[in-house]
Amino acid sequence: MDLRKFAPFAGVAVLSVSLLAGCGGSSNNAASGGSSGAACPLTSAADPGNSQAPAGVPTADKAPKLTKTSGLKIAFSQNASNNPWRLAETASMKDEAAKQGLQLTITDANNDQSKQVSDIKGLIAQKPDALFIAPITEQIANVVKDAATAGIPVFLLDRAVDTNIAVPGKDFVSVMQSDFIQEGKRAAVQMAKATNGNAKIIELEGTTGASPAIDRKKGFDEAIKQCSGMQIVVSQDGDFTRAKGQSVAETLLQSHPDATAIYAHNDEMALGAIAAIKAIGKVPGKDIQVVSVDGEKDGLKAVAAGDLYATVECSPRFGPIAFQTMTDYAAGKPVKTLIINSDQLFTKDNAADNVAKAY
Ligand code: AHR
Repeated sequence: MDLRKFAPFAGVAVLSVSLLAGCGGSSNNAASGGSSGAACPLTSAADPGNSQAPAGVPTADKAPKLTKTSGLKIAFSQNASNNPWRLAETASMKDEAAKQGLQLTITDANNDQSKQVSDIKGLIAQKPDALFIAPITEQIANVVKDAATAGIPVFLLDRAVDTNIAVPGKDFVSVMQSDFIQEGKRAAVQMAKATNGNAKIIELEGTTGASPAIDRKKGFDEAIKQCSGMQIVVSQDGDFTRAKGQSVAETLLQSHPDATAIYAHNDEMALGAIAAIKAIGKVPGKDIQVVSVDGEKDGLKAVAAGDLYATVECSPRFGPIAFQTMTDYAAGKPVKTLIINSDQLFTKDNAADNVAKAY
């Protein structure tokens, strides 16, 4: 979901990487084929960083009200528990609920969209005071609407839904997430540096229809247009999991033996891809450069080891912002319909130092 939809007139101020050429310097390696990256401005661009705070985002004024301020019963529909990122997000929600002494009911959809829809229907029937949802894909918008129709304020966590169906500020109070388009752009800059602006890229996409999969692709594609030497040779769904990432990478490395880089939409798929690269006797970080998104513990270790060139952070620690937003809403304070996290970048310069506090 393009975040500009939230503020169509004022717009989300997303930094253009083409305007950010400056410090940084490019690296040379076998995967670059040794060609000059002069035609690719991304090789010398600084990390574009987070997008600027979205301007002109409306506040939620038509969503069901939350008038209770104590003893709240909260529900959370988690979409899966199949990777460290999801486990960290759930733990963060539990920790915050415990800190505030609030009851939190959690369902796990096991990465199955129809299960998530039925989980949410079940939670609606329990009439929680507030409902947090981490959507699998943008297509669960109708059940989000159902919750609002039942008078339950909904807060979306980490992924968005189709806003043509579920109206921000009416069918849900707010969506809290990273700027996935910007993550794609940041990843593209790292990929350009890793490959000197010359790369035949295998893209491992996240779950089809999930907003991070849609937007991480979009941001990356947009950025590499500036570099004629960088092309995506094949792109396939790896479902955000290590096992699927590995099996898809194995197949694609065979069908595209000339590939020199892999862009994975999350660390788990990147780690699967690294295993696949090693299995065919190639060296990640030398023969094939890998860049991804998240910043999980194993991802940071892989960066420190030189297997993964860089990972753009996408923080899963939503508990504090989720509960603060809900508390503000209950207190009648204005709550924006879109709240964007700030994330950092992990490279060989800082990965090892961040392993201990990673999830
Ligand atoms: O929605 C955020 C993404 O979902 C994370 O990048 C990924 O690891 C998770 O499954």
